[in-house]
Amino acid sequence: MDNTLYYGDNLNILRHKVKDESIDLIYLDPPFNSKTDYNILFKEPTGELSKSQIMAFEDTWHWSEESEKAFEEILMSHSEVAEMMRAFREFLKDNDVMAYLTMMCVRLLELQRVLKTTGSIYLHCDPTASHYLKILMDAIFGKKNFKNEIIWHYRKWPSGKRQFQRNHDIVLFYAKSDSADRIFKQIDFMERTESTLKRFGKSKIVSGHDENGNRLPSQVEDVESLGVPRDDVWDIGRVPPIKQLFPTQKPQQLLSRIIRASSNEGDVILDPFCGCGTTIVEAQNLKRIWQGIDITFLSISLIKKRLKDIYNVTAPKDYQIFGEPTDLPGALALKDINKHQFQWWAVSLVDGIPYKGGKKGADTGIDGYIYFADEEKYKKAIISVKSGHVGVKDIRELNDVVDREKAEIGVFITLESSTEPMRKEAIGKGFYYSTKLNKNFPKIQILTIEELFDNRRPNIPQVVSMYKKAEKSVDQGMLI
Ligand SMILES: C[S@@+](CC[C@H](N)C(=O)[O-])C[C@H]1O[C@@H](n2cnc3c(N)ncnc32)[C@H](O)[C@@H]1O
Repeated sequence: MDNTLYYGDNLNILRHKVKDESIDLIYLDPPFNSKTDYNILFKEPTGELSKSQIMAFEDTWHWSEESEKAFEEILMSHSEVAEMMRAFREFLKDNDVMAYLTMMCVRLLELQRVLKTTGSIYLHCDPTASHYLKILMDAIFGKKNFKNEIIWHYRKWPSGKRQFQRNHDIVLFYAKSDSADRIFKQIDFMERTESTLKRFGKSKIVSGHDENGNRLPSQVEDVESLGVPRDDVWDIGRVPPIKQLFPTQKPQQLLSRIIRASSNEGDVILDPFCGCGTTIVEAQNLKRIWQGIDITFLSISLIKKRLKDIYNVTAPKDYQIFGEPTDLPGALALKDINKHQFQWWAVSLVDGIPYKGGKKGADTGIDGYIYFADEEKYKKAIISVKSGHVGVKDIRELNDVVDREKAEIGVFITLESSTEPMRKEAIGKGFYYSTKLNKNFPKIQILTIEELFDNRRPNIPQVVSMYKKAEKSVDQGMLI
């Protein structure tokens, strides 16, 4: 199996692309039904948060025709799960929680199918729905296969509500079966408490059971030990919002622990809600084979950039991307399905960062930026993407936006071919002159999607990466 990034709805992709019992470890961090819109905040090269903001995903669910269809599928296929879902519906009625659970249930059934009998699954959730999800997981994976409810504890700014601050998420860990070949490695150890240290020093306390399962009295071995095996409460700092590439980004350390505990090098790891790719990046680091799925092109393009910036890993040399247009009909199809996804994809082709600004997303004429370093300063090019009919007017408008925004260059990306008058108009707008390079760069540059497929790119001085090189390796020590 090759490393693969899938763009699309994970239900479709799981059903059509992922084989039965082919995955060793699944980590999933679905939206939590938090009724929040998650925005992406991009950073200027100086580190300041930029004005550009994009809604990455909406975490609100409603009972719909789709929920009804999924619910019927569940009723028809799996008896115990169907019973549970029927009971949930009777209790919850057709509300948003029920819609969320139905969406999760059909996906968890697919995840159960694709997991190997020796595999493990970690479901990340928060107290909004974790109690329902645990019942669902019991029904799908079996109560006896429940292993841990991991509490991920972190700190954040107090909210000032009249209750205790909510400072944890829950990760439900289940095995697929009771197979003796399931991998579980005690990968690290915690410090002993002071009282234990006082009583036993650094000796090892050994406890065990006899053949009948009766507990034997603890014995003290006079050897220096590694500490106490890690338990199910993990104190790991959150990725601070200012450092996040993506809302809800999880810390690499969390994924490192899960992957090292429940897989070996070369095993296959799947993240069906992969966001900005924390699982993917850590799996790559730990030499696992990875499969990531996300429904937005923003995620796919962020992951592509992270892999390139950190490991110099690129597609199609090192991994496959599925669902990304590879030819003109594919680009047309993407535009027809979703204009925003088309724009984000087009912006990612020229290594730009997407932009959706203005009041209520009003059209500012800007779809993205490319920052570049020249004359010891950061400068910018503005990207405008058009998927419909284009003409000279669009070139004039882009030129005006470049002047208004005090940018140096305008990159015009069009799905339709450009015309002779458009090209003439662009040439007429002159050049950006770099004194450092002693070179002229056309101020307005037109690129068709077809030309981009032919590997033509904007002619811009040295481009700056907006994605910081993350630390390659985290949480490798024994005592953390
Ligand atoms: C909570 S975020 C995951 C964050 C991720 N763990 C990280 O560290 O970046 C949830 C992700 O699920 C994606 N998503 C939501 N519904 C999906 C679906 N049906 N199929 C695939 N991805 C989906 C969203 O686009 C979002 O990126």
